[in-house]
Amino acid sequence: MYSTLTAGALLLAASAVNAQSLNVTSGYINYTTVTGYFLQDAASTNASGFDYTAVNFGLINQTYPGSTTELTQWQQFSAQVNALNAAAPLNTVYKVLFLGRHGEGYHNAAETFYGTPAWNCYWAELNGNATTTWYDADLTANGINQALVAHNFWQHELAVQKMPYPQSYYSSPLTRCLKTANYTFAGIQTPAYYPFVPTVKELLREGVSIHTCDHRRNRTSIHDLFPSWNVDDLSEYDTIWNGITAETNDAQDARSKKVLDSIFSGDDHTWLSITSHSGEIGSILRVLGHRSFSLSTGAVIPVLVQAQFLPSGPPPSSPPYTTSTHCAHPPVTSIGSLAQGCVCSGTAAGGIAVPIFSVSGDYPAGAGFQATDLNTPTGAGGASVTGSARHSTSHSTSTSHSSSSSGHAATTTATVTVTTCPILSSAGASGSHSWSSSYGW
Ligand SMILES: *[C@@H]1O[C@H](CO)[C@@H](O)[C@H](O)[C@H]1NC(C)=O
Ligand SMILES: *[C@@H]1O[C@H](CO)[C@@H](O)[C@H](O)[C@H]1NC(C)=O
Ligand SMILES: *[C@@H]1O[C@H](CO)[C@@H](O)[C@H](O)[C@H]1NC(C)=O
Ligand SMILES: *[C@@H]1O[C@H](CO)[C@@H](O)[C@H](O)[C@H]1NC(C)=O
Ligand SMILES: *[C@@H]1O[C@H](CO)[C@@H](O)[C@H](O)[C@H]1NC(C)=O
Ligand SMILES: *[C@@H]1O[C@H](CO)[C@@H](O)[C@H](O)[C@H]1NC(C)=O
Ligand SMILES: *[C@@H]1O[C@H](CO)[C@@H](O)[C@H](O)[C@H]1NC(C)=O
Repeated sequence: MYSTLTAGALLLAASAVNAQSLNVTSGYINYTTVTGYFLQDAASTNASGFDYTAVNFGLINQTYPGSTTELTQWQQFSAQVNALNAAAPLNTVYKVLFLGRHGEGYHNAAETFYGTPAWNCYWAELNGNATTTWYDADLTANGINQALVAHNFWQHELAVQKMPYPQSYYSSPLTRCLKTANYTFAGIQTPAYYPFVPTVKELLREGVSIHTCDHRRNRTSIHDLFPSWNVDDLSEYDTIWNGITAETNDAQDARSKKVLDSIFSGDDHTWLSITSHSGEIGSILRVLGHRSFSLSTGAVIPVLVQAQFLPSGPPPSSPPYTTSTHCAHPPVTSIGSLAQGCVCSGTAAGGIAVPIFSVSGDYPAGAGFQATDLNTPTGAGGASVTGSARHSTSHSTSTSHSSSSSGHAATTTATVTVTTCPILSSAGASGSHSWSSSYGW
């Protein structure tokens, strides 16, 4: 019903990547997290160490008006969501999103191995090391197991709690999410009318960074991996990642709203599974007005969302991307106490914005990338990086989202350049400009 109302009013093209062509002046979807149903949306719940499989996905035990205790808690909650929708005005809909983070990928393991500063400053910009690859990172064995834990838990909950089946499935186009969605849901008997056939959405990808783990393969190889899945949203090549610029949190939130708008205006189902990333789920939670809640690899968070379709609202924004700098060689120093940055080795060219390697030449042959990937990020940011800008970018471009590096400079010789790098820190999640979770998690 509401989808008929809004499909015309809010025409969000499937190719939502073309941000500039979207015309949302005729409507605005306002999202609110409805609290009081899940432990995760309560300020008192500690996200660190939270195990969704130990607490029924976090659903709070309670009775709702008219509910009967003969029903399971999830059946009662399902009836409550139906009641909310039945009582809602025609411009309002409630949906339950299951936001699942991919299992551990090779990039996660490598970040642990090298330490976050060195990872961000140098290693993440390579496609791997001599023994591991992490561009568009695949799942590690541990990551597969985490997805299978999710699989077993879903299966248990569907059978024992009789919780509603997801009615639609969405995934980021990055390999670790595609595979996590598959390991989680493949083999679960689903209703014939709600089959497990995910729609791959370009804008559910991880925060765009210069990390090669966030650079996706071509559409053909995604289609070949899971031939029945819907990849219509994707262009053949990745036109967003360019190895030079990165999304700010504001740019990422604007793009998260775009993909949510696309889903909410194009899908009249209530129970949706979305497989994405730590940074992107963090951004989606911000857009939904949910408190910050960091997920460990493979974890799932449910959110009850109220969406109001308003005739107008704040205009869509497309905050620019910013140029990232990095070291040209393995950093001299990278230890926890230098968490604000790395000390690059070499000359002043060490802290640079030029990609360490070229997309056309340096990926393994047949990896699914090509030089045309290296477009300017017209999609969500609109920042234009010209040839000269690539070579003249100063370090100041990164200072707005990094801590001062002056303290480290004092410890180095004149030929050493200090590059500040975005740092991952779970404690930093509150600041809207924190880069904490946007980097390839
Ligand atoms: C956007 O939609 C409004 C209302 O339908 C229309 O008046 C306006 O011309 C459109 N703008 C663009 C850029 O298409
Ligand atoms: C949250 O839990 C972690 C361990 O899982 C603990 O170290 C931390 O102190 C807890 N934080 C609060 C505010 O209780
Ligand atoms: C709800 O109650 C059941 C037992 O009746 C318990 O196992 C479960 O942990 C409770 N859930 C929460 C979120 O407290
Ligand atoms: C490559 O990185 C992995 C961590 O992901 C590490 O285990 C391995 O030892 C590294 N290989 C080399 C040659 O340094
Ligand atoms: C998809 O999941 C099934 C079931 O776990 C598994 O057998 C299959 O290998 C997976 N496919 C891919 C491409 O990972
Ligand atoms: C969206 O909803 C929130 C909470 O109800 C409200 O504070 C805010 O003003 C609304 N935004 C718009 C654009 O109507
Ligand atoms: C797509 O990527 C695959 C590797 O994943 C490669 O073999 C194929 O040639 C690529 N296709 C195109 C059209 O570039």
